[in-house]
Amino acid sequence: MTSGGVLQPSAGDAAQVRARGVTKHFATPAGTVDVLRGVELDVERGETVAIVGESGSGKSTLLALLAGLDTASAGTLEVGGIDPGSMDEAGLAGFRAHTISIVFQHFHLMKSLTALENVRLPLELRGDADIAGRAERALADVGLAARQSHFPAQMSGGECQRVALARAMVTTPRLLLADEPTGNLDEKTGRRVMDLLFDVVASTGTTLILVTHSEILAARCARTLTLSNGVLLPATADARAGAGAGN
Ligand SMILES: Nc1ncnc2c1ncn2[C@@H]1O[C@H](COP(=O)(O)OP(=O)(O)OP(=O)(O)O)[C@@H](O)[C@H]1O
Ligand SMILES: [Mg+2]
Repeated sequence: MTSGGVLQPSAGDAAQVRARGVTKHFATPAGTVDVLRGVELDVERGETVAIVGESGSGKSTLLALLAGLDTASAGTLEVGGIDPGSMDEAGLAGFRAHTISIVFQHFHLMKSLTALENVRLPLELRGDADIAGRAERALADVGLAARQSHFPAQMSGGECQRVALARAMVTTPRLLLADEPTGNLDEKTGRRVMDLLFDVVASTGTTLILVTHSEILAARCARTLTLSNGVLLPATADARAGAGAGN
């Protein structure tokens, strides 16, 4: 028995993410910081999009808006047809349980839970059936069948990141938001984690928005956008290795 049925993202609106004139400013003692100044973004279902940009350009801020972890100052934002900023706590809980998953740079695993319990958690939170089997499969998928009962402190950084990936994917989200998911892994481990992420994304048709500083990683996405001066721009031609496209 496989998880094939479970891994099927639900059909529906092709436009997974739509942003129009999204701005975000922060009030600080030193004055207002305008981070996002009119972000326009369209991501279709199943697309893979990389977002690059200098440190401090607002990439994590944008992901936080998409995830409903923060609200925009102005503009409209839709994820699966819903504005995450307009949801109440119950709505947001459902949105996080059923629509999106996030992989953070620093894993954000629950320290007091084992690897398996961490992966089970999102399924438990939404009251799914067959939790144990699915969590075990997800851990096995990331090569950690032998680490089920390890706590985060007993695992390497790469192992923790793979647990975080299993936890993000076990709910088969329609949209996966990944913020520098290999940021603190060595190159080889980072590549393995990313191979895994792209395999799962491809096999499940999950929409991926990947924030990264790595051009190599960005190039694995169908499209790259650069966040610069508070707006998203298409990647420049010279960044896309356009060798010999002669017409
Ligand atoms: N809560 C906050 N209050 C004030 N300023 C903030 C807040 N959160 C973020 N900022 C500012 O917004 C800007 C964008 O931050 P953000 O974390 O989105 O950048 P980033 O592109 O993800 O950078 P990095 O590549 O370093 O992760 C930064 O200048 C940061 O200082
Ligand atoms: Mg960031």
